[in-house]
Amino acid sequence: MLNRIDLTNKRALITGAGSGIGRAIALRLAEEGMKLALVGRSAEKLMRTAALTGRPLDMLVLPADITKPKDMDNIMHIMEGHFKGLDVLVNNAGMALSRPFEQTAEADFDAIMAVNVKAPFILCQRTLKLLRTSDCPTIINIGSVVAHDGYANQAAYAASKHALLGMTKALAKEVSGDGIRVHMLSPGGVYTEMIDVVRPELSPEGLIRPEEVAELAAYLIQHRGGAVIDEIRLHRAGKEPFM
Ligand SMILES: NC(=O)c1ccc[n+]([C@@H]2O[C@H](COP(=O)([O-])OP(=O)(O)OC[C@H]3O[C@@H](n4cnc5c(N)ncnc54)[C@H](OP(=O)(O)O)[C@@H]3O)[C@@H](O)[C@H]2O)c1
Repeated sequence: MLNRIDLTNKRALITGAGSGIGRAIALRLAEEGMKLALVGRSAEKLMRTAALTGRPLDMLVLPADITKPKDMDNIMHIMEGHFKGLDVLVNNAGMALSRPFEQTAEADFDAIMAVNVKAPFILCQRTLKLLRTSDCPTIINIGSVVAHDGYANQAAYAASKHALLGMTKALAKEVSGDGIRVHMLSPGGVYTEMIDVVRPELSPEGLIRPEEVAELAAYLIQHRGGAVIDEIRLHRAGKEPFM
């Protein structure tokens, strides 16, 4: 039996915490007594997440666009000032795009890479010094099955998640000596607002629930045996993986 780390008062920064998988992870980590910095563009959605934790005073609501350098500076300034360190970074915010290859504009490609790859890269880079002060430092990047396979009409999205996987693998090796665990969770279709936009034809019963992804994130943060888990793919039982 592995020891379970007590997460009471440990600090996590979660991007995209106002909806879907990010909100489910926030609620699950709040259950463990963690203090959370909730990041996303909509203050209203973040405040709703904070309220749902039942401990809104332990939550930092940080409305920010993670593609904007000034907003990133603000996040780091507040993290350093209020949290004075960090135990867990969850790079969850993301955008998907379902568009035929020839109709995918350069601006679409740039936008998706900025949210799904560049922002996690910058957040990892800027939080490493804070994570090094923790006794359970963990980074969890939310990937997708499209990080491993190709799906028609999703070239830009697939490129961004493949890139995130490459970064995750390289960083995991680079900081393992510092005791920092870097993982990627790669779900298939999850029942969130995003799937409604990209694959509205899929019925909710066939989808993974955000809480299932959150449970795995909590497990990875709480259990630190000798084995390093580099990636987990979540497929719906009995179904082909899809996004
Ligand atoms: N749903 C699926 O089937 C599925 C499958 C595999 C992987 N994923 C991945 O899971 C992650 C979460 O997605 P979800 O399914 O939970 O969808 P979602 O509910 O649409 O969540 C995406 C979140 O990202 C935030 N976000 C987007 N752009 C941002 C920006 N520029 N700055 C700050 N925050 C931003 C959004 O908040 P604001 O709009 O308030 O900014 C939103 O809370 C994504 O990385 C996605 O690629 C989803």
